[in-house]
Amino acid sequence: MSRKLLLGVSGGIAAYKACELTSLAIKAGWDVEVIMTDNATRFVGPLTFAGLTGRPVHTDTFAPEAAMAHIHLAKWADIVAVAPLSANTLGKIACGLADDLLTTTLLALPRGTRCLLAPAMNTEMWFKPVVQRNIRWITEMERFTWIAPTEKRLACGDHGVGGLADPADILAMLEAP
Ligand SMILES: Cc1cc2nc3c(=O)[nH]c(=O)nc-3n(C[C@H](O)[C@H](O)[C@H](O)COP(=O)(O)O)c2cc1C
Repeated sequence: MSRKLLLGVSGGIAAYKACELTSLAIKAGWDVEVIMTDNATRFVGPLTFAGLTGRPVHTDTFAPEAAMAHIHLAKWADIVAVAPLSANTLGKIACGLADDLLTTTLLALPRGTRCLLAPAMNTEMWFKPVVQRNIRWITEMERFTWIAPTEKRLACGDHGVGGLADPADILAMLEAP
């Protein structure tokens, strides 16, 4: 039986690791659709995900060839992951904003659909009270689950919490019952 993973990619340095997650998921037998924020496309080209998934990548809420893509993708998914989840997109989810295809689709998700959030950001951003509050807000309001960022040497050169969880660990969480 095919399993349908909708992967949201937002704009952070760890976007390249979402390519590895996509590759692992495809090899494990998932059908994968990818939504990228416009800022994510500045880090990794949509063509990479299209090549890995064999499907076009979704970036535009108003794409003429895919009217209501947010509704169709939300209904299509068996499970959703956002990896990496940027501080900005995290804040938008917490506030119920829907100003791009990724956040609009997340708002349109059927209530029973599981969604795994994998934040990744600089340590100072991660520990900022407003970011921690946004995490609490989402946890209180939504049934979304989290995979915590790891502590390591980050791309910015700092050592601390904020690295994207290992793609294999993210996939393992998606596959857990
Ligand atoms: C080189 C570079 C790396 C960045 N890495 C991150 C990151 O890891 N996490 C994060 O939350 N924001 C990061 N940002 C900032 C986001 O790209 C920025 O907040 C953007 O508005 C996020 O857009 P999005 O949430 O719509 O994808 C980075 C910016 C630059 C220029």
